[in-house]
Amino acid sequence: MINEQLPKIWYGGDYNPEQWEAPVWAEDERMFKLAGIDVATINVFNWALIQPSEEVYDFSHLDALIDRLYKNGTYVILATSTGAHPAWMARRYPEVTRVDEKGRKRKFGGRHNSNPNSPVYRDFAAKLAGKLAERYKDHPALLCWHISNEYGGHDYSEESAAAFRVWLKERYGSLDALNKAWNTRFWSHTFYDWDEIVLPNELSEEWDGNRTNFQGISLDYRRFMSDSLLECYLIEYAAIKEHSTNIPITTNLMGFYPGLDYFKWAKHMDVISWDNYPALDTPVSFTAMTHDLMRGLKHGQPFMLMEQTPSQQNWMPYNSVKRPGVMRLWSYQAVARGADTVLFFQLRRSIGACEKYHGAVIEHVGHEHTRVFRECAELGRELEQLGDTLLDARSAAEIGVLYDWDNRWALELSSGPTVALDYMKEVHKYYDALYQQNIEADLIGVEEDLTKYKIVIAPVLYMIKPGFAEKVEAFVQAGGTFVTTFFSGIVNENDLVTVGGYPGELRKVLGIWAEEIDALLPEMSNEIVMNKQWGELGGAYKCNLLCDLIHSEGAEVLAQYGSDFYKGMPVLTVNSFGEGKAYYVASSPEQAFLQGFLANLSEENGIKPLVRAPHGIESVQRVKDGMSFLFLLNHHEGELTAEIGADERTDLLTGETHSGSVTIPGRGVMILSGKN
Ligand code: GLA
Repeated sequence: MINEQLPKIWYGGDYNPEQWEAPVWAEDERMFKLAGIDVATINVFNWALIQPSEEVYDFSHLDALIDRLYKNGTYVILATSTGAHPAWMARRYPEVTRVDEKGRKRKFGGRHNSNPNSPVYRDFAAKLAGKLAERYKDHPALLCWHISNEYGGHDYSEESAAAFRVWLKERYGSLDALNKAWNTRFWSHTFYDWDEIVLPNELSEEWDGNRTNFQGISLDYRRFMSDSLLECYLIEYAAIKEHSTNIPITTNLMGFYPGLDYFKWAKHMDVISWDNYPALDTPVSFTAMTHDLMRGLKHGQPFMLMEQTPSQQNWMPYNSVKRPGVMRLWSYQAVARGADTVLFFQLRRSIGACEKYHGAVIEHVGHEHTRVFRECAELGRELEQLGDTLLDARSAAEIGVLYDWDNRWALELSSGPTVALDYMKEVHKYYDALYQQNIEADLIGVEEDLTKYKIVIAPVLYMIKPGFAEKVEAFVQAGGTFVTTFFSGIVNENDLVTVGGYPGELRKVLGIWAEEIDALLPEMSNEIVMNKQWGELGGAYKCNLLCDLIHSEGAEVLAQYGSDFYKGMPVLTVNSFGEGKAYYVASSPEQAFLQGFLANLSEENGIKPLVRAPHGIESVQRVKDGMSFLFLLNHHEGELTAEIGADERTDLLTGETHSGSVTIPGRGVMILSGKN
C-alpha cells in the first residue's frame, strides 16, 4: 500500500488555494466533501510565496492550509515547489536559468526552467525540500512527498557543459576510450583535451531536435541530461529523507516522455506516479500501454495516477471536453492497469494565466451543479465503496513487451535508413495486436527478469546492451519464446555497429543473417506470403517501412517476401534454440498479420484471452490473495457484450453476479471479482 493511513483508492488532485481568498476555501471544503475527495496535492508551484527572498521563508500560508484540509478530512500529497524558481532568484543568480538548443540564455519566465547543473539552484532546492520535510514530517495529513513537477527539458549552459565533461570522464575513464566509443576519427573529431568537448546543440552537432552529425555525443548527452535531472531529484530526495523516513516519495512522470530514462529513475522512487493526458484521438490501447509501462517501471508495483483532467486540457490545439462517462471510464482504465490513486489536475479552475481554461472539478461557475462535478462526485462515491479491495493487486500477464529509452534515443538519432521509423509506433503495433485480442501483456525494460514470462517481444531492438543477448539466449534455451523484428541487434550501447552480420549479437539465437536493409517509400509496400496455413494465419499480408533481406542460418522459414528483387527471401523465421523458439519478423506488418501471429504464439504457450469480446471492449485483470478482478471497459458509445466464461463473478460496483455473456453499457465499466 502506498500509505496505510488512507486504505482506499486516493481521490482528489492538484489544489492551488493560494490563488484564492478565504471564502472560496470554505466552499472548496464543502464541495470536496460532496465529491468524496480525500486527497489534495498542494504546494506544487509555491516557491515564490514560501521564500519571498533569499533570506526569508514564510510557511504561515502552508501551515494553515494543511491544518484546514486535515480538519476537513482531506489528506495531502505535499510537493516541494521546485518546479519553478522565483523571479528574485533568477535576477540575483542568472545561472539558475537555462540556455536553449540555439544557445540563447533564458531570462526569468515559464516553469520547469531551472538549470539542473546550477549549484545555486540545487542548493536552494535542497534547502527548501529539507525545510518542508522538517516542518511537516509528522503532520497527520501527510500521505506522500511530491518532488518538483514533471522534470524534463534540455540545458546547454556552461554549468551543464562542465558537468557533462565530468560525467564523460566517469563513464569512459580516458579520452582514448571516449574517442573510440564515439568513433571520432570520422570527420576529424578526435579530442585531445576534455575541454574541447562542447554540448551538442544547434551551435555544434545537432539540428531539428533529434538530428545529429555524431550519434555518440548526442546519445550520451541525452543520458547525461536524464542523469542531471535525476541528480536534482535525488538531492531533494536525500534532503527529505533526512527528516521524514516513513513517508513515500515520488515525482510525477509523463508516460513515454522521450527525455528521461524512467527505468533508471524508478530505482530511486518509492512509488511511481504519472500524469495522463491523452488527446481525443490517442488510441485507448496506447493509453493502456502507457499505464502498463508505468506499472512495469517498478516490476509490477502499483502506481499513482497523479494527474488527469476531469474534462479538458488547455494546451492542445483543440481542447474538446471529455464526453459523458469518459472521465470515469479512463479513471478505471488507470485503476485496472495498476493505479491505486485517481487524481486530477485540478480541483478548482484558476482565473488567470494559461491554465484558466483547463478542466477542473470545481469550474468557474463555482457551484456543484455541473456535469463535470456530478460525474466526479459519482466516481468519488464508487471509489469510497471499493475501499481497499483493489489496493496492491498485481498483473498476472505472461507476455512481456520490451521498451528501452536508450534504444529509442539511438533510433531517433540514427541517420538512416528511414525517417519514417517511429519506435513508439512499432512497440504499440505489437502491444495493440495483443490488446485487441484481450491478451494481457506487461511493458518491461531490458533489466527485467525475463523468466517471469512465457513470451518476450522486443520490437526494433536496435541496441543490444552488454549481457542482454546472453540473457535472451538463456531465456529461449529454457523454453521461452522470443520475438524480435527488422533493424534489431545492430549496435552496441555506444551506437557502434556490431560487425560480422546483422542482427549482431542476436544472430545465434535467431538463426538468421540480414544482408541488407531496404527502406520503402511511404506509398510502397511488400508482402508477407505464408509458406503454409498456421492457425488463422495464411495467404499474404502487407508489410512496409523497412525490409531486412535475410538468410536462414538454421531457422525455419515461415513466410517469404512477395515482391521486388528479394521476392522469395525469408520475412518470417523461427529458430528452435534449446527448449524454446526465437522468431524474427523482418518487416513491419499490417495488424491482421500481427494479430494472427501473436494469437498463434499465445495459444502455443497456453496463454488464453481473458474474455471473448468485440472491438471496443478493453479487458484486463488484477490479482490479489487468490482473487482476480476482471475489468471490462466499454470504450464505445453503445452497449457491447462479452463472454466471460462459466465461472460466476460478482461486479464490485453493483453487487450483481454474472457468468457467460455480460452486457456492458456504452462507456460502462464492470469490475468482476472471482477466484483466481
Ligand atoms: C501538467 C502539469 C500541471 C498542469 C497540467 C495541465 O501535467 O504537471 O501542473 O500544468 O499539466 O494539463
